Amino acid sequence: MSGLFITLEGPEGAGKSTNRDYLAERLVSAGCEVLLTREPGGTPLAERIRELLLEPSAEPMAADTELLLVFAARAQHLAQVIRPALAAGKVVLCDRFTDATYAYQGGGRGLSLERIALLENFVQGSLRPDLTLVFDLPVEIGLARAAARGRLDRFEQEAQGFFEAVRQAYLVRARQAPERYRLLDAAQPLPAVQAQLDELLPELLERARG
Ligand SMILES: Nc1ncnc2c1ncn2[C@@H]1O[C@H](COP(=O)(O)OP(=O)(O)O)[C@@H](O)[C@H]1O
Ligand SMILES: [Mg+2]
Repeated sequence: MSGLFITLEGPEGAGKSTNRDYLAERLVSAGCEVLLTREPGGTPLAERIRELLLEPSAEPMAADTELLLVFAARAQHLAQVIRPALAAGKVVLCDRFTDATYAYQGGGRGLSLERIALLENFVQGSLRPDLTLVFDLPVEIGLARAAARGRLDRFEQEAQGFFEAVRQAYLVRARQAPERYRLLDAAQPLPAVQAQLDELLPELLERARG
């Protein structure tokens, strides 16, 4: 068995974390061994890097510093968690991965996609997610949900234009590789979003059973 690597993507408040837990429940009920994780983070050291990335700070973080921290955390996460779980044949459900780097550091911060691709190849080799679920919704709906959650992190404090660019970057990537991406309408009420996931479940189970 070679495992199955599924990532959940989308802007703040899209419902990634909520639906990751829902999907995990469905996959476990169907007999899959599931590992739930997230980025940035997923190991104690990578979670410390996450704090550096999310804490608002007086010193502005250079965009390249942000990019390198994201990939430093990812290298640790891959080595300690993701690669071993896939090697053990598990279904890995990861809340954000490299598509988020293309969306936030590429689309949002305006860093060159070529530079991101260079680091992607450097850190991941040929590893890419098998399937990426993109939770898409209008920016203001997601931001309102995120704001209701409490104190805003360093990214959530960005202006609306930043998140519009993030959203568009996700949509462009999903369109470029329709075999890897599944687009979900995340603006719908939660039961309707979960119904969209239920529709994907047979495909996921088929691929998990390889
Ligand atoms: N489809 C939905 N409709 C309304 N509220 C939702 C929906 N999905 C998630 N929420 C709520 O919005 C907030 C953000 O959801 P969350 O799963 O944390 O999003 P993300 O992980 O993508 O930032 C949570 O309070 C969650 O309960
Ligand atoms: Mg979340």
